[in-house]
Amino acid sequence: MSAIRAAVVGCGDVSVVHLDAIAKRQGTELVGIAETDPGRRAAAAERRGVPGFATVEELLDAVRPDVVHVCTPHDQHAPVAIAALRAGASVLVEKPLADTIDAARELAAVLSESPGQLALCFQNRYNPPVRALQELIGSDALGRIEGAAATVLWHRTPEYYRDRPWRGTWSGGGGGLLMNQAIHTLDLLNWLLGPVEEVKGSASTRALADVIEVEDTAEMALRHASGVRSVFFATLGHGRNSDVEIEIVGERATATLRGDLTVRYADGRVMTVPERTATTGGQSYWGLSHELLIDDFHSRLSAPEPFWIGVDAGLDTLTTIAAVYDASFPQRGVVAEQGETE
Ligand SMILES: NC(=O)c1ccc[n+]([C@@H]2O[C@H](COP(=O)([O-])OP(=O)(O)OC[C@H]3O[C@@H](n4cnc5c(N)ncnc54)[C@H](O)[C@@H]3O)[C@@H](O)[C@H]2O)c1
Repeated sequence: MSAIRAAVVGCGDVSVVHLDAIAKRQGTELVGIAETDPGRRAAAAERRGVPGFATVEELLDAVRPDVVHVCTPHDQHAPVAIAALRAGASVLVEKPLADTIDAARELAAVLSESPGQLALCFQNRYNPPVRALQELIGSDALGRIEGAAATVLWHRTPEYYRDRPWRGTWSGGGGGLLMNQAIHTLDLLNWLLGPVEEVKGSASTRALADVIEVEDTAEMALRHASGVRSVFFATLGHGRNSDVEIEIVGERATATLRGDLTVRYADGRVMTVPERTATTGGQSYWGLSHELLIDDFHSRLSAPEPFWIGVDAGLDTLTTIAAVYDASFPQRGVVAEQGETE
């Protein structure tokens, strides 16, 4: 069988874990990269030994990849993925699915008329403690779920935004903490407890108010399709990147995910599922599961059914986030447009 021909578009920070995973995977070969920044383009092409292109269109024309990994800023996710799908390729899109719900819907419409597959990079669903928690909930081992709480206490420096200005803007990022960081935890709540049906929440800019125009702090009360309610707090104003915590309270046990999973049963039993430890080319708070998701997606490119983490997961998270933005930043579209004309 011939190798899967993979390409990466956007060769900034996160691309390293994609390029490393592609290099490690038997049965996949990297055939090219695209990157708008000439310095990063030359460096990635030389290090990986493949041709580098300035645009996704040139890459698609020249190397005809089977799968394109979209590792660009958020506002470029939908345009790049749509170009790849229209050229007959599959796409692995970094989160979020797109910078706006409209762009995500356009991408979903193109996907439905294309032969390719789409995977969304919510890699934390592959963490062993997360999978164990999902199985415990699915098998009713925790009993009726009485509630859930999630906290994301992270730290970002002014340099993180100065190095990549898109990250702190409505026009480039579509939002801040919720779109870029806490979206992973919102996805886990969706996956574990069912899609969110009601959102009450707010977002604000606290610790980084002098640095970014988007939010760095948010709180929410959510009601899931299962009827379960969850509460959520996230900030980038903490002094370090603590492990994300999700607590699920069931009538028979309380499960706490904080790196490892600890389940405390009402009868006194305690069960733990440890998180893996390893060093990767990425940041520790990205977790270790990019490689697992990429391997799984590449092995299912020809499957008849859609990949299990796709447009539904993307639209669910964007819809929750948009509800909070509508409540807290009703003028955000206007702000972004004014910013672009300055
Ligand atoms: N899943 C995770 O845990 C995780 C972790 C970090 C980042 N991300 C996501 O990965 C994406 C990239 O983040 P990053 O931190 O690597 O950003 P980055 O700014 O470091 O890299 C993005 C690169 O894309 C290039 N680019 C912009 N537009 C392009 C286009 N149209 N065609 C080709 N190249 C283009 C930029 O020049 C830049 O080098 C974002 O969606 C981010 O949310 C995901």
